[in-house]
Amino acid sequence: MIYGNKFLGRTNMPNDGVGLVEQTKKYIATMFQGNSDGHDYDHMIRVYNNAMEIYKIEKTGDILVIQLAALLHDVDDHKLFNTTNYENARKFLMSNNVPEETIERVVDVIGSVSFSKNGLQRPATIEGCIVQDADRLDAIGAIGIARAFAFGGSHGNTLLDTVDHFEKKLLLLRNGMNTKGGKVIANKRHSIMVAFLRELSADMDIG
Ligand code: ADP
Ligand code: NI
Repeated sequence: MIYGNKFLGRTNMPNDGVGLVEQTKKYIATMFQGNSDGHDYDHMIRVYNNAMEIYKIEKTGDILVIQLAALLHDVDDHKLFNTTNYENARKFLMSNNVPEETIERVVDVIGSVSFSKNGLQRPATIEGCIVQDADRLDAIGAIGIARAFAFGGSHGNTLLDTVDHFEKKLLLLRNGMNTKGGKVIANKRHSIMVAFLRELSADMDIG
């Protein structure tokens, strides 16, 4: 055999960042199909878009690491998948011939994104700061409100339980933003939540 086993099944693999990003979008489309608690394909794309917007302002960081981590940040979320050591992300990246060093940087960024794992702790790398901000932006503002109630409903929580989640987490996210761009977008989204909660509290008051 001329090429050896290691090339078997690896024809037409993307060998540039653009092809790889497209492959990653296809992969997450299959991974999050049918999700109704706010962790769907669109969430991953919005996080990707937020990250690109922040990256344009920051003008620093490894764009491919940011893109891959943004798209893959929930593929090993313990609430959704039963994996350890970022197995899904690693397998996907390895099967697409991504260099080991890049894979390590991507999973390091993924590890620094989660609120439940890191709280308001600032990630050590600029890529981590950008992707963490991008994910948290999708938890606040109008989209954050929609996702919170979708999450609450799909977990059997009452409306008041979800209002409590705003106090305990969502209203704190603005002050935890790492980047300049993240802070600007977060300020606007925070005001939308405050206005919404004021209206909601009046509407929910049953005397
Ligand atoms: P992380 O993995 O960063 O800790 P989560 O996966 O818990 O974040 O949260 C993702 C989304 O689900 C956010 O939009 C968040 O507001 C929402 N969410 C998480 N927990 C609750 C809850 N108890 N009530 C309502 N929404 C929630
Ligand atoms: Ni997320």
